[in-house]
Amino acid sequence: MGFSEAQEDLVLNSWKAMKKDSESIALKFFFRIFEIAPGAKQMFSFLRDAGDDAPLEKHPKLKAHAVAVFVMACESATQLRNTGDVKVREATLKRLGATHVKAGVADAHFEVVKTALVDTIRDAVPDMWTPEMEAAWEEAYDQLAAAIKEEMKNNA
Ligand code: HEM
Repeated sequence: MGFSEAQEDLVLNSWKAMKKDSESIALKFFFRIFEIAPGAKQMFSFLRDAGDDAPLEKHPKLKAHAVAVFVMACESATQLRNTGDVKVREATLKRLGATHVKAGVADAHFEVVKTALVDTIRDAVPDMWTPEMEAAWEEAYDQLAAAIKEEMKNNA
């Protein structure tokens, strides 16, 4: 099934609407991930090293990860519409594969992050939200996650 221009628009337009609040959206995204999978917190070295009492919002890297997931899913949407396939730049993909293997990320975590991503978007743009928008984000995310997971196999 192809990815249409309308689907790309659903992804890009909702991200555009969310981007100005990326700080609070990044936080919500992470809280949701840790709500679904509390153990995932231990994977993030900057959270692990900071100790239990350190407030999450004090970590600039946390925002960076959240924004990376959003931005890369947007890029995937554009690639899917253009070429029907997701190709992460080779150097980036190699690094992502290695980082996630080293951190102990497993396939199930990608599902957790997908759920948290969808919940965060639904919460951030309730007026724009439709089943079609959900499906478009899921497709873009799934194809991106598949590329990263494939690269992770090479690092296992
Ligand atoms: C690091 C992107 C999914 C956990 C990173 C980095 C990026 C990134 C850009 C920065 C380091 C680097 O560039 O190598 C993504 C994308 C994802 C994804 C685009 C999904 C499509 C996940 C999932 C988990 C996860 C499912 C597990 C819950 C981590 C951890 C680090 C990391 C633990 C290292 C952070 C640190 O300790 O500094 N990711 N990630 N990521 N990611 Fe992800």
